[in-house]
Amino acid sequence: MTYSEQIHQTADYIKSETGFEPEFGIILGTGLGALVNDIDIQQEIDYEHIPNFPVSTVESHKGKLIFGTLSGRNVIAMQGRFHFYEGYNMKEVTFPVRVMKLLGIKKLFVSNAAGAVNLDYQISDLMIIDDHIDLMKEHPLSGPNLDDFGPRFPDMSEPYERKMVEQGMDIAKKHGIPCHKGVYAAVSGPNLETRAEYRYIRIIGADAVGMSTVPEVGVARHMGLPCFAISAITDIGDPDNLPEINIANILAAAAKAEKGMTVIIQELIKFQ
Ligand code: HPA
Repeated sequence: MTYSEQIHQTADYIKSETGFEPEFGIILGTGLGALVNDIDIQQEIDYEHIPNFPVSTVESHKGKLIFGTLSGRNVIAMQGRFHFYEGYNMKEVTFPVRVMKLLGIKKLFVSNAAGAVNLDYQISDLMIIDDHIDLMKEHPLSGPNLDDFGPRFPDMSEPYERKMVEQGMDIAKKHGIPCHKGVYAAVSGPNLETRAEYRYIRIIGADAVGMSTVPEVGVARHMGLPCFAISAITDIGDPDNLPEINIANILAAAAKAEKGMTVIIQELIKFQ
């Protein structure tokens, strides 16, 4: 079966299992774990029961699709995403985004954890992604183009919908949530950056760096889906003062950012 046929088969399976018509897709990355509690859940399917779906390997990411309403709107949420550093290829990483598009989503919402290289940022601040730089080692759109889904050379002049970026910033301000608007650089990982790499990432124009989101957004834009993405700043990549990075501290910083991120997504969805 071709990749495209697999995408259709998976979407058909989910349609027949749920009959659900989602308006928005949400990838519950770091910082959005608690958003599940605000979704009025109608149905859930474990990834392992979905034909052709990759299976999540990271303990902290439970793998299931959630169907329900958030702020009164029909959403499909991915609890658990696939990272390149786990060993999935980019076609696997982005497979669910293709499927969600066939299920009918009109916009994609994504979250992640990131290290700041903009030294004005503080740990547990949020950053709404306004633009990105792809430093990853593989591209999900390489190889024959999926003409039924989008063009060979997709435009990236507005990777993140400008209107949603502004709405997100307004919501943050209104609720007193510390939030920046910035550029996200995506790296393959899994190691964190060296001092020279953090310095380089700052010099080329990024505000934060992380290991996800850009593949999913690239594929969403290939299909014309407007995107919104937000980072929880979990550490500061200051090349002149770089402490040893501790994963427990990263998770604690993300947990602290969770409330604000949840509010922003809940509110933002109401305006779409
Ligand atoms: N670098 C890359 N990915 C990350 C970081 C970082 O400093 N923090 C959280 N995810």
